[in-house]
Amino acid sequence: MKSDPWGGRQPPAPAQTKPRVWPLAIRPFPAYSPAMTQHERLLIIDFGSQVTQLIARRLRELNVYCEIHPFNKVDDAFLQDFAPKAVIFSGGPSSVFAEGAPMPPASVFDLGVPILGICYGQQVMMHCLGGKVERGHGTAEFGRAFVTPTAAKTKLLDGWFATDREQVWMSHGDHVSKIAPGFEVYGTSPNAPFAITADTKRHFYAVQFHPEVHHTPNGAKFYENFVRIAGFTGDWTMGAYREQAIAAIRAQVGDKRVICGLSGGVDSSVAAVLIHEAIGDQLTCVFVDHGLLRQNEAEEVVKMFRDNYNIPLIHADESELFLGKLDGVSDPETKRKIIGGLFIDVFQKYANQIEGAEFLAQGTLYPDVIESVSFSGGPSVTIKSHHNVGGLPEKMGLKLVEPLRELFKDEVRALGRELGLPPSFIGRHPFPGPGLAIRCPGEITREKLEILKKADAVYIDQIRKHGLYDEIWQAFVAILPVRTVGVMGDGRTYDFACALRAVTSVDGMTADYYPFTHEFLGETATRIINEVQGINRVTYDITSKPPGTIEWE
Ligand code: XMP
Repeated sequence: MKSDPWGGRQPPAPAQTKPRVWPLAIRPFPAYSPAMTQHERLLIIDFGSQVTQLIARRLRELNVYCEIHPFNKVDDAFLQDFAPKAVIFSGGPSSVFAEGAPMPPASVFDLGVPILGICYGQQVMMHCLGGKVERGHGTAEFGRAFVTPTAAKTKLLDGWFATDREQVWMSHGDHVSKIAPGFEVYGTSPNAPFAITADTKRHFYAVQFHPEVHHTPNGAKFYENFVRIAGFTGDWTMGAYREQAIAAIRAQVGDKRVICGLSGGVDSSVAAVLIHEAIGDQLTCVFVDHGLLRQNEAEEVVKMFRDNYNIPLIHADESELFLGKLDGVSDPETKRKIIGGLFIDVFQKYANQIEGAEFLAQGTLYPDVIESVSFSGGPSVTIKSHHNVGGLPEKMGLKLVEPLRELFKDEVRALGRELGLPPSFIGRHPFPGPGLAIRCPGEITREKLEILKKADAVYIDQIRKHGLYDEIWQAFVAILPVRTVGVMGDGRTYDFACALRAVTSVDGMTADYYPFTHEFLGETATRIINEVQGINRVTYDITSKPPGTIEWE
């Protein structure tokens, strides 16, 4: 319906947030994934930039397989083993002058492959190769800037400078004051005379700005040129991935049995269908219904798996157990811990019934396993204790099958399409493990849950009718722990208030509220109040993340 929901405004730049915490799921990521060795590989050495993941996304969009590894894990042996066809140095918050400043191993420059340095990556490259970096002192640049070309030409800038300047996004305190021998300047900005530099003989490229963020509008072309220079053929496709993942699952599992915790979300559904394609009935799925699912959700999930895939599925209706234990509990962390603990117990109970199960399948994604660079050395603050079935393998002595470990969310959706999952399933908004419990601040009662389910169904129906569902990362209703006075007909009402939430996001780590029209909000409020008994007031939550979180608890 709406071609430009932002009304000309740019969505917010990625904010500085702590990495997402999935305490039970994190395990060390192998140096590289054995299943992927047939692909051409690009190595991203992470120096701690907040936007390193975006580099990987840009490259994956170009069908280039890449992995992010922290600088302190990349040594000579690693480089030999990984055998990259090209290397990218990410940006980072450090200064090359700082004691123990993050550096790549010197041997990276002897690999004979193209290297691209971004922001801090440029400074590191110049520092290592004989150039000079100076501290900010009035030359720091943050935000939008414009680069103009010099007379020199490089293939890296094919398709750039259609006008006399290109918009880029800068974020640097220090700057390069002298380029290393062999380098030339290809672009300058008012505060970065060496905005684009290259040694085209050795194929070393170094830029001060961030081509991976959307505020550098022509950034995708920039990466396309780099991977073309490096000779990538673009062999990373979902079709190829599907075949290799299936072969890898068969090789890993052999004739043993696998159990898979199904939530009905995209990740676990795609993992289950992929594994089923690989090993058929050696897979059994367990769908735990904790009574905190959305309206008709349990029936829809079970039907989808039984009708379309004939996958052996245990539908564990444990709603009485969960709701019983949550009775009278209002503290958000206590709720999460109760649900997380019960989930594991219940899953284990059903898994024990599957004889000979040696493997547990999980829909773990790449963003959950990328090791982030920590400069403070301390653990990140736990904002919310997320849960999944990640604690089970140790408890039950199960080995893990994680076929989506190398994929970003959009790639999981592409794989789901490749596997023929219904579009309605693939496009579903994420739904949290603790379900409606964290959308019901305060005590959870069955009455409140019923009201919440109905209001949520009306809201999502409205969003679908207006053609907005796919533009929104996540939308839901939260029922508030207050009753308010209203008037309906000639009578007084004293019912619950609710909050509508809808956000746009790339990965759930940062988010902005969705700019619905007033007409949409008015119509939706009217429908909810008319159709859902128990609600007499509707509000719209316009908090971004940060400072808010997406869920209410
Ligand atoms: P927050 O509320 O932390 O949510 O901004 C970010 C994203 O994570 C989802 N979420 C969870 N997902 N288990 C999950 O599987 C959890 O415990 C959990 N808590 C939040 C949330 O729905 C949003 O997509």
